[in-house]
Amino acid sequence: MERRRLGRTDIVASVLGFGGSEIGYQRVAARTVARLLGSALDAGLNVIDTAECYEESEVLIGRAIGSRRREFCLFTKCGHARGWARPDWRPASLLESIERSLRRLETDYLDLIQLHSCSLAELRQGDVIAALERARERGWARYIGYSGDGEAARYAVECGRFDTLQTSVSIADQEALELTLPLARTRQMGVIAKRPLANVAWRYARKPAESYHQTYWARLRTLDYSFLREVPDAAVATALRFTLGVPGVHTAIAGTTKPERWQQNAALLQAGSLPGGEFELIRARWREVADASWVGQV
Ligand SMILES: NC(=O)c1ccc[n+]([C@@H]2O[C@H](COP(=O)([O-])OP(=O)(O)OC[C@H]3O[C@@H](n4cnc5c(N)ncnc54)[C@H](OP(=O)(O)O)[C@@H]3O)[C@@H](O)[C@H]2O)c1
Repeated sequence: MERRRLGRTDIVASVLGFGGSEIGYQRVAARTVARLLGSALDAGLNVIDTAECYEESEVLIGRAIGSRRREFCLFTKCGHARGWARPDWRPASLLESIERSLRRLETDYLDLIQLHSCSLAELRQGDVIAALERARERGWARYIGYSGDGEAARYAVECGRFDTLQTSVSIADQEALELTLPLARTRQMGVIAKRPLANVAWRYARKPAESYHQTYWARLRTLDYSFLREVPDAAVATALRFTLGVPGVHTAIAGTTKPERWQQNAALLQAGSLPGGEFELIRARWREVADASWVGQV
């Protein structure tokens, strides 16, 4: 598994990381998570991303691989300790949330703590960033980052106070390629691609019931990339190689509920980078059909 240095941090990340939202929201059994993460670590995974509000995701990760803590880099987020619908950006609440994450993840330090998609106004006001800096000073997190999209992500890059940016990058979400990634690259920020497979939303023949998948499903119908008609593994391979071929991206945190998935997706990357021509075709098709409403999806 290829590894890339995460910007100017000392983290050398496997290009395929693990996104921890589905194991939480889909209430995957602890035994399954232990198999999933244990086998992925054995196979070369070293980046695990989760959040304070992905239900029991942090607890599941802590139980599954807390005893192997030195073998991976652990990223989590703060801002919604009482659930996504109840954000709380007060500095004291953020620090409490980070302490809770440390307990739930069964660790005494995080490699990265990220603001979980707060608004541009919160970022500009600045207390939320100062809270993360305090957590870093206290040794609770080695690095600090912003996770989100659009103008807030742009500000997070411009302000110069974050080590990393986690943002949506995929065949169905390309706003960041112009809005944030070139500057993030110049500033040597670590870049974590979230939703890197566009949720594999093309797998649904009809509009998916899950609202989280609907925007990408609709965009992909309009984009109508011919490679999406190939066998499933070939389509996933092209999608993932596109995301990892975007200049400035260091790691792609793909979410999954299935123990065999990480190795399956890792094998798809053995083909190496996407040929330049194929990458440019995907970019050209996006430029042709994407309208102003096709912004980065949080
Ligand atoms: N605001 C934020 O900070 C924010 C927002 C969104 C996401 N994130 C982070 O980004 C991570 C990834 O995002 P995501 O999980 O929404 O999107 P994603 O990685 O693009 O898609 C995950 C979905 O793809 C499926 N999948 C993966 N590999 C597959 C394959 N080879 N064939 C068929 N299906 C496959 C998974 O299903 P199976 O279970 O069947 O594998 C899962 O439903 C999250 O877990 C989270 O850590 C952060």
